[in-house]
Amino acid sequence: MAIQWFPGHMYLTQKAISERIKEIDVVIELLDARLPGSSANPKLAELTASRPTLKVLNKQDLADPLVTQLWLAHYNALPSTRAIELDASETAPARKLIDACHALAPLRGSMVKPMRVLICGIPNVGKSTLINTLTGKRATKTGDEAGITKIEQRIVLADGFYLWDTPGMLWPRIIVAQSGYNLAASGAIGRNAFSEEEVALELLNLLIKKYPAALTDRYKVNITPESTDETVLEDIGRKRGAVLPKGRINLQKAAEIVIYEFRQSALGRITLETPDEFAGWLAAGQLLDAERQVKKDAIEMARLIKFKKIARPEKLRGA
Ligand code: G4P
Repeated sequence: MAIQWFPGHMYLTQKAISERIKEIDVVIELLDARLPGSSANPKLAELTASRPTLKVLNKQDLADPLVTQLWLAHYNALPSTRAIELDASETAPARKLIDACHALAPLRGSMVKPMRVLICGIPNVGKSTLINTLTGKRATKTGDEAGITKIEQRIVLADGFYLWDTPGMLWPRIIVAQSGYNLAASGAIGRNAFSEEEVALELLNLLIKKYPAALTDRYKVNITPESTDETVLEDIGRKRGAVLPKGRINLQKAAEIVIYEFRQSALGRITLETPDEFAGWLAAGQLLDAERQVKKDAIEMARLIKFKKIARPEKLRGA
Protein backbone atom coordinates (compact mmCIF):
# COMPACT_ATOMS: atom_id res chain seq x y z
CA MET A 1 0.00 0.00 0.00
CA ALA A 2 1.31 3.48 -0.81
CA ILE A 3 0.11 6.12 1.65
CA GLN A 4 -1.61 9.14 0.13
CA TRP A 5 -3.13 12.06 1.97
CA PHE A 6 -3.92 15.42 0.43
CA PRO A 7 -7.03 17.19 1.69
CA GLY A 8 -8.35 20.03 -0.48
CA HIS A 9 -7.32 22.86 1.86
CA MET A 10 -3.68 21.94 1.19
CA TYR A 11 -4.09 23.12 -2.43
CA LEU A 12 -5.10 26.52 -1.01
CA THR A 13 -1.99 26.56 1.18
CA GLN A 14 0.14 25.74 -1.84
CA LYS A 15 -1.42 28.66 -3.72
CA ALA A 16 -0.96 31.02 -0.74
CA ILE A 17 2.73 30.10 -0.46
CA SER A 18 3.37 30.63 -4.18
CA GLU A 19 1.87 34.15 -3.85
CA ARG A 20 3.57 35.07 -0.57
CA ILE A 21 7.04 33.84 -1.61
CA LYS A 22 7.50 36.85 -3.91
CA GLU A 23 8.02 39.12 -0.87
CA ILE A 24 9.92 36.71 1.37
CA ASP A 25 13.65 36.86 2.27
CA VAL A 26 14.10 33.56 4.13
CA VAL A 27 12.01 30.39 4.33
CA ILE A 28 12.01 28.47 7.60
CA GLU A 29 11.14 24.84 6.99
CA LEU A 30 10.23 22.95 10.12
CA LEU A 31 11.24 19.29 9.86
CA ASP A 32 10.67 16.37 12.21
CA ALA A 33 14.15 15.46 13.52
CA ARG A 34 13.09 11.78 13.64
CA LEU A 35 12.46 11.75 9.87
CA PRO A 36 14.02 14.87 8.32
CA GLY A 37 14.09 13.63 4.72
CA SER A 38 10.58 12.21 4.77
CA SER A 39 9.13 15.28 6.49
CA ALA A 40 10.60 17.65 3.88
CA ASN A 41 7.87 18.61 1.45
CA PRO A 42 9.21 18.35 -2.15
CA LYS A 43 6.43 20.63 -3.33
CA LEU A 44 7.59 23.27 -0.86
CA ALA A 45 11.17 22.94 -2.15
CA GLU A 46 9.79 23.68 -5.64
CA LEU A 47 7.74 26.68 -4.47
CA THR A 48 10.56 28.22 -2.43
CA ALA A 49 13.62 27.24 -4.51
CA SER A 50 14.57 30.87 -5.13
CA ARG A 51 14.92 31.73 -1.43
CA PRO A 52 17.53 30.89 1.25
CA THR A 53 16.21 28.24 3.61
CA LEU A 54 16.61 27.60 7.31
CA LYS A 55 15.93 23.94 8.12
CA VAL A 56 14.75 23.59 11.69
CA LEU A 57 15.03 20.03 13.00
CA ASN A 58 12.21 20.16 15.53
CA LYS A 59 11.39 17.56 18.20
CA GLN A 60 15.12 16.93 18.50
CA ASP A 61 14.47 15.75 22.07
CA LEU A 62 12.77 12.67 20.55
CA ALA A 63 15.46 11.98 17.92
CA ASP A 64 18.76 10.10 18.08
CA PRO A 65 21.33 12.87 18.76
CA LEU A 66 24.06 11.24 16.65
CA VAL A 67 21.83 11.02 13.59
CA THR A 68 20.63 14.59 14.15
CA GLN A 69 24.27 15.70 13.81
CA LEU A 70 24.49 13.85 10.47
CA TRP A 71 21.41 15.68 9.20
CA LEU A 72 22.66 19.09 10.41
CA ALA A 73 25.99 18.54 8.61
CA HIS A 74 24.12 17.39 5.48
CA TYR A 75 21.92 20.49 5.33
CA ASN A 76 24.68 22.94 6.34
CA ALA A 77 26.72 21.72 3.35
CA LEU A 78 23.96 22.75 0.90
CA PRO A 79 24.09 26.18 -0.79
CA SER A 80 21.88 28.96 0.69
CA THR A 81 20.87 26.63 3.50
CA ARG A 82 21.39 26.54 7.26
CA ALA A 83 20.14 24.06 9.78
CA ILE A 84 19.53 24.18 13.52
CA GLU A 85 17.96 21.77 16.00
CA LEU A 86 15.12 22.77 18.28
CA ASP A 87 12.60 21.35 20.70
CA ALA A 88 9.45 22.56 22.40
CA SER A 89 11.17 22.82 25.77
CA GLU A 90 13.36 25.71 24.57
CA THR A 91 11.92 28.72 26.30
CA ALA A 92 13.46 31.35 24.04
CA PRO A 93 14.02 29.94 20.55
CA ALA A 94 13.52 33.37 18.93
CA ARG A 95 17.18 34.46 19.23
CA LYS A 96 18.38 31.23 17.61
CA LEU A 97 15.93 31.64 14.71
CA ILE A 98 16.62 35.36 14.24
CA ASP A 99 20.41 34.84 14.20
CA ALA A 100 20.18 32.00 11.67
CA CYS A 101 17.92 34.10 9.39
CA HIS A 102 20.34 37.04 9.56
CA ALA A 103 23.18 34.75 8.52
CA LEU A 104 21.14 33.76 5.45
CA ALA A 105 20.01 37.29 4.50
CA PRO A 106 22.53 39.69 6.10
CA LEU A 107 21.19 42.80 4.33
CA ARG A 108 17.70 42.45 5.79
CA GLY A 109 16.40 43.10 9.29
CA SER A 110 16.24 46.90 9.63
CA MET A 111 13.09 49.02 9.92
CA VAL A 112 13.69 50.18 6.32
CA LYS A 113 14.42 46.70 5.00
CA PRO A 114 12.65 44.33 7.38
CA MET A 115 13.40 40.62 7.39
CA ARG A 116 10.39 38.82 5.93
CA VAL A 117 10.28 35.17 6.84
CA LEU A 118 7.84 32.44 5.84
CA ILE A 119 7.50 29.46 8.17
CA CYS A 120 6.25 26.17 6.71
CA GLY A 121 6.06 22.54 7.66
CA ILE A 122 4.01 19.39 7.41
CA PRO A 123 1.09 18.88 9.84
CA ASN A 124 1.99 17.91 13.42
CA VAL A 125 5.66 18.87 13.08
CA GLY A 126 5.27 21.32 16.00
CA LYS A 127 4.69 24.61 14.19
CA SER A 128 1.85 25.81 16.45
CA THR A 129 3.86 24.93 19.54
CA LEU A 130 6.87 26.87 18.24
CA ILE A 131 4.76 29.89 17.29
CA ASN A 132 3.06 29.84 20.69
CA THR A 133 6.49 29.89 22.33
CA LEU A 134 7.67 32.69 20.04
CA THR A 135 4.62 34.84 20.71
CA GLY A 136 4.41 33.89 24.37
CA LYS A 137 0.76 32.90 24.18
CA ARG A 138 -1.50 30.12 23.01
CA ALA A 139 -2.15 31.84 19.70
CA THR A 140 -2.92 28.66 17.78
CA LYS A 141 -4.46 25.42 18.83
CA THR A 142 -2.07 22.49 19.19
CA GLY A 143 -3.16 18.88 19.03
CA ASP A 144 -2.11 15.46 17.82
CA GLU A 145 -4.44 15.31 14.81
CA ALA A 146 -2.87 16.35 11.53
CA GLY A 147 -3.90 19.71 10.06
CA ILE A 148 -5.38 21.76 12.89
CA THR A 149 -3.62 25.05 12.00
CA LYS A 150 -5.59 26.61 9.17
CA ILE A 151 -5.26 30.39 9.19
CA GLU A 152 -2.29 32.26 7.80
CA GLN A 153 -1.00 34.82 10.31
CA ARG A 154 1.72 37.46 10.44
CA ILE A 155 3.79 37.67 13.59
CA VAL A 156 6.15 40.49 14.55
CA LEU A 157 9.04 38.65 16.16
CA ALA A 158 11.30 41.66 16.77
CA ASP A 159 11.75 45.16 15.34
CA GLY A 160 12.18 44.70 11.59
CA PHE A 161 11.52 40.95 11.72
CA TYR A 162 8.21 39.59 10.41
CA LEU A 163 7.17 35.98 10.33
CA TRP A 164 4.36 34.59 8.18
CA ASP A 165 2.86 31.35 9.41
CA THR A 166 1.28 28.90 6.95
CA PRO A 167 -0.94 25.89 7.58
CA GLY A 168 0.71 22.47 7.71
CA MET A 169 0.97 21.05 4.21
CA LEU A 170 1.67 17.64 2.72
CA TRP A 171 2.13 16.95 -0.99
CA PRO A 172 -0.28 15.29 -3.42
CA ARG A 173 1.64 12.09 -4.13
CA ILE A 174 4.27 10.55 -1.90
CA ILE A 175 6.58 8.72 -4.30
CA VAL A 176 8.92 7.36 -1.61
CA ALA A 177 6.96 4.49 -0.05
CA GLN A 178 9.11 4.41 3.11
CA SER A 179 8.45 8.13 3.63
CA GLY A 180 4.72 7.43 3.64
CA TYR A 181 5.20 4.87 6.42
CA ASN A 182 7.53 7.12 8.42
CA LEU A 183 5.15 10.07 8.13
CA ALA A 184 2.24 7.91 9.25
CA ALA A 185 4.25 6.57 12.21
CA SER A 186 5.16 10.11 13.27
CA GLY A 187 1.52 11.32 13.27
CA ALA A 188 1.79 13.65 10.25
CA ILE A 189 -0.89 11.78 8.27
CA GLY A 190 -4.49 11.52 9.49
CA ARG A 191 -5.24 8.05 10.85
CA ASN A 192 -7.96 7.29 8.27
CA ALA A 193 -5.40 7.35 5.44
CA PHE A 194 -3.36 4.31 6.46
CA SER A 195 -3.49 0.84 7.95
CA GLU A 196 -2.00 0.81 11.45
CA GLU A 197 -0.89 -2.78 11.05
CA GLU A 198 1.09 -2.06 7.90
CA VAL A 199 2.67 1.07 9.36
CA ALA A 200 3.61 -0.74 12.60
CA LEU A 201 5.21 -3.58 10.60
CA GLU A 202 7.31 -1.13 8.58
CA LEU A 203 8.26 0.70 11.77
CA LEU A 204 9.27 -2.56 13.46
CA ASN A 205 11.25 -3.55 10.38
CA LEU A 206 13.37 -0.40 10.83
CA LEU A 207 13.59 -0.74 14.61
CA ILE A 208 14.75 -4.39 14.42
CA LYS A 209 17.66 -3.27 12.23
CA LYS A 210 18.50 0.03 13.92
CA TYR A 211 17.37 -0.09 17.54
CA PRO A 212 16.91 -3.76 18.59
CA ALA A 213 17.89 -2.95 22.20
CA ALA A 214 15.06 -0.41 22.43
CA LEU A 215 12.55 -3.13 21.47
CA THR A 216 14.01 -5.59 24.00
CA ASP A 217 14.03 -2.99 26.78
CA ARG A 218 10.50 -1.79 26.15
CA TYR A 219 8.67 -5.01 25.24
CA LYS A 220 10.97 -7.72 26.67
CA VAL A 221 10.97 -9.41 23.27
CA ASN A 222 13.93 -11.43 22.10
CA ILE A 223 15.42 -10.08 18.88
CA THR A 224 17.32 -12.83 17.04
CA PRO A 225 18.57 -13.08 13.43
CA GLU A 226 15.31 -14.95 12.69
CA SER A 227 13.09 -12.16 14.05
CA THR A 228 10.86 -10.47 11.49
CA ASP A 229 8.49 -7.54 11.78
CA GLU A 230 5.58 -10.02 11.90
CA THR A 231 7.03 -12.22 14.66
CA VAL A 232 7.97 -9.18 16.75
CA LEU A 233 4.49 -7.61 16.36
CA GLU A 234 2.94 -10.90 17.48
CA ASP A 235 5.32 -11.10 20.46
CA ILE A 236 4.46 -7.55 21.49
CA GLY A 237 0.74 -8.33 21.23
CA ARG A 238 1.19 -11.43 23.39
CA LYS A 239 3.26 -9.60 26.02
CA ARG A 240 0.74 -6.75 26.19
CA GLY A 241 -2.30 -9.02 26.45
CA ALA A 242 -3.67 -8.15 23.00
CA VAL A 243 -5.11 -11.63 22.56
CA LEU A 244 -8.36 -12.64 20.86
CA PRO A 245 -10.51 -15.74 21.56
CA LYS A 246 -8.71 -19.02 20.71
CA GLY A 247 -5.37 -17.36 21.51
CA ARG A 248 -5.06 -15.41 18.27
CA ILE A 249 -3.08 -12.17 18.56
CA ASN A 250 -4.98 -8.93 18.09
CA LEU A 251 -2.54 -7.45 15.57
CA GLN A 252 -4.53 -4.23 15.23
CA LYS A 253 -4.24 -3.56 18.97
CA ALA A 254 -0.54 -4.52 18.98
CA ALA A 255 0.07 -2.16 16.04
CA GLU A 256 -1.69 0.71 17.82
CA ILE A 257 0.51 0.14 20.90
CA VAL A 258 3.72 0.23 18.83
CA ILE A 259 2.75 3.40 16.94
CA TYR A 260 1.47 5.20 20.05
CA GLU A 261 4.57 4.37 22.08
CA PHE A 262 6.92 5.39 19.28
CA ARG A 263 5.14 8.77 19.10
CA GLN A 264 5.35 9.18 22.88
CA SER A 265 9.08 8.39 22.72
CA ALA A 266 8.56 5.47 25.11
CA LEU A 267 11.18 3.49 23.16
CA GLY A 268 13.79 6.19 23.66
CA ARG A 269 15.31 8.64 21.20
CA ILE A 270 14.93 7.23 17.71
CA THR A 271 15.56 8.52 14.19
CA LEU A 272 14.11 6.52 11.33
CA GLU A 273 16.45 7.62 8.53
CA THR A 274 19.94 8.94 7.80
CA PRO A 275 20.74 11.32 4.92
CA ASP A 276 22.30 8.46 2.89
CA GLU A 277 19.37 6.11 3.45
CA PHE A 278 16.88 8.76 2.47
CA ALA A 279 18.88 9.60 -0.68
CA GLY A 280 18.71 5.91 -1.65
CA TRP A 281 14.93 5.71 -1.06
CA LEU A 282 14.41 8.90 -3.02
CA ALA A 283 16.43 7.69 -6.03
CA ALA A 284 14.50 4.39 -6.06
CA GLY A 285 11.17 6.21 -5.70
CA GLN A 286 11.97 8.59 -8.54
CA LEU A 287 12.96 5.70 -10.81
CA LEU A 288 9.70 3.86 -10.08
CA ASP A 289 7.76 7.05 -10.64
CA ALA A 290 9.45 7.64 -14.00
CA GLU A 291 8.63 4.04 -15.07
CA ARG A 292 5.05 4.54 -13.96
CA GLN A 293 4.83 7.73 -16.01
CA VAL A 294 6.17 5.96 -19.14
CA LYS A 295 3.48 3.25 -18.70
CA LYS A 296 0.77 5.88 -18.19
CA ASP A 297 1.88 7.77 -21.31
CA ALA A 298 1.82 4.54 -23.36
CA ILE A 299 -1.73 3.78 -22.18
CA GLU A 300 -2.86 7.30 -23.00
CA MET A 301 -1.24 7.13 -26.46
CA ALA A 302 -2.98 3.79 -27.18
CA ARG A 303 -6.30 5.29 -26.07
CA LEU A 304 -5.93 8.33 -28.34
CA ILE A 305 -4.94 6.14 -31.31
CA LYS A 306 -7.89 3.81 -30.65
CA PHE A 307 -10.34 6.68 -30.70
CA LYS A 308 -8.53 8.16 -33.72
CA LYS A 309 -7.77 11.40 -31.90
CA ILE A 310 -4.21 11.19 -33.25
CA ALA A 311 -2.59 9.33 -36.17
CA ARG A 312 -0.48 6.20 -35.65
CA PRO A 313 3.23 7.07 -35.24
CA GLU A 314 4.07 5.40 -38.64
CA LYS A 315 1.50 7.60 -40.34
CA LEU A 316 2.96 10.67 -38.65
CA ARG A 317 6.34 9.71 -40.11
CA GLY A 318 4.68 9.45 -43.56
CA ALA A 319 5.26 5.66 -43.72
P1 G4P B 1 1.56 21.54 14.15
O1 G4P B 1 1.11 22.92 14.52
O2 G4P B 1 2.78 21.57 13.30
O3 G4P B 1 0.48 20.70 13.54
O4 G4P B 1 2.04 20.77 15.49
P2 G4P B 1 1.71 21.09 17.04
O5 G4P B 1 2.43 22.33 17.47
O6 G4P B 1 0.24 21.00 17.25
O7 G4P B 1 2.45 19.86 17.74
C1 G4P B 1 2.02 18.53 17.55
C2 G4P B 1 2.43 17.71 18.75
O8 G4P B 1 3.87 17.70 18.84
C3 G4P B 1 1.96 18.25 20.09
O9 G4P B 1 1.79 17.14 20.96
C4 G4P B 1 3.14 19.04 20.60
O10 G4P B 1 3.15 19.18 21.99
C5 G4P B 1 4.28 18.14 20.14
N1 G4P B 1 5.54 18.86 19.97
C6 G4P B 1 5.77 20.01 19.28
N2 G4P B 1 7.07 20.34 19.31
C7 G4P B 1 7.67 19.38 20.03
C8 G4P B 1 9.05 19.16 20.41
O11 G4P B 1 9.97 19.88 20.05
N3 G4P B 1 9.28 18.04 21.17
C9 G4P B 1 8.30 17.18 21.57
N4 G4P B 1 8.63 16.13 22.32
N5 G4P B 1 7.01 17.37 21.21
C10 G4P B 1 6.72 18.45 20.47
P3 G4P B 1 0.38 16.59 21.42
O12 G4P B 1 0.59 15.30 22.10
O13 G4P B 1 -0.53 16.65 20.29
O14 G4P B 1 -0.11 17.64 22.43
P4 G4P B 1 0.54 18.06 23.84
O15 G4P B 1 1.72 17.18 24.11
O16 G4P B 1 0.94 19.48 23.65
O17 G4P B 1 -0.58 17.87 24.78
